[in-house]
Amino acid sequence: DETIVLSELAKRMGIKANEMIVKLMGMGVMATVNQTIDYETAVLVAGEFNYEVEKASFEEEVILKKTEEENPDQLQPRPPVVTIMGHVDHGKTSLLDVIRKTRVTEGEAGGITQHIGAYHVQTEKGVIAFLDTPGHEAFSAMRSRGAKVTDIVVLVVAADDGVMPQTVEAINHSKASGVPIIVAINKMDKPDADPDRVQRELSEHGLMPESWGGDAIFVQVSAKKNTGIDELLEMILLQAEILELKANPDKLASGHVVEAKLDSGRGPVATVLVQDGTLRAGDSIVCGMHYGKIRVLQDDLGRTVESAGPSMPVEIVGLSGVPMAGDELVALADEKDARQVSQHRMQKQRSKELAKTNRLSLEGLFEKM
Ligand code: GTP
Ligand code: MG
Repeated sequence: DETIVLSELAKRMGIKANEMIVKLMGMGVMATVNQTIDYETAVLVAGEFNYEVEKASFEEEVILKKTEEENPDQLQPRPPVVTIMGHVDHGKTSLLDVIRKTRVTEGEAGGITQHIGAYHVQTEKGVIAFLDTPGHEAFSAMRSRGAKVTDIVVLVVAADDGVMPQTVEAINHSKASGVPIIVAINKMDKPDADPDRVQRELSEHGLMPESWGGDAIFVQVSAKKNTGIDELLEMILLQAEILELKANPDKLASGHVVEAKLDSGRGPVATVLVQDGTLRAGDSIVCGMHYGKIRVLQDDLGRTVESAGPSMPVEIVGLSGVPMAGDELVALADEKDARQVSQHRMQKQRSKELAKTNRLSLEGLFEKM
């Protein structure tokens, strides 16, 4: 589905766009200056001017695959990536807070910052990466764009409130992505906590607890009183073991953008989850339509780090523009390649937008007639 904008093709051939439009008309193709024409048409019209069109001028896939072949021997276990989901106010962030505060060492506790929605937690039994998803927006954006970032969903349901619309939404998201769910019934400290009701309501949505003959994992917790947290972490790591999560830390990194923004001082800043390989300061990267060289890598505590391996969320600085949540990040050995891929994507995007504008103006024309 290679295309080129008419004016661009004309320019490269050194002829006037109008000449090409006339020629195309003669061939029965109505086109405007800004219109994209497909490869076959380009070949035909160029032929009329005694030009040959070379298709393989740019193969993005070839460049992106130039990175080394996968060697199964290099695969190593990686930490699970866990997304905390659930209805508003059911305690997702509180749960994460208590996990982070009680699990990070004394010295680090004071340095906790909230500027990143992705965390890296060292528990006694292993490392876990957590994503906090306010309103599921980021998660939905990523899923709708085909980015699979999470291995396990922890579904937080308040024991005094039960299953609510966003609880059901979260279940549907998880099922659609084929991600296993661990239910955390939170706010167990509340006098009106009713975990049986939560289990009953969730059973109606296909989450039946083991004690009732189902296979869903339920853990009762209280973020406020810090109870049940160890069991929850244990269940997460148990589930992760079953999933046999692996990645190869000894290659160039790939991953996805969790969130991104324009920082007045630092420029475009993106929080990315490294999913494979290792990302290093100085690496050339392509990220969505943008590219760059990583100037600074920071962990979720705001500390500068030299590198980030599989399942590690990091904030990166050095991109040419602000990517979108769900955009893929790929590190490339060659800086030129990164720029070329980015430019190619930009041009594609521009073609698409021009095509849209043309369609719109045509529609407007018909309305007037
Ligand atoms: P959103 O991000 O807005 O969707 O909310 P959230 O799910 O992150 O909930 P949050 O952690 O902000 O908690 C909402 C409220 O519930 C806060 O007032 C918390 O103090 C309270 N809360 C959270 N966990 C518990 C708990 O275990 N027990 C009690 N009693 N209150 C809790
Ligand atoms: Mg929250």
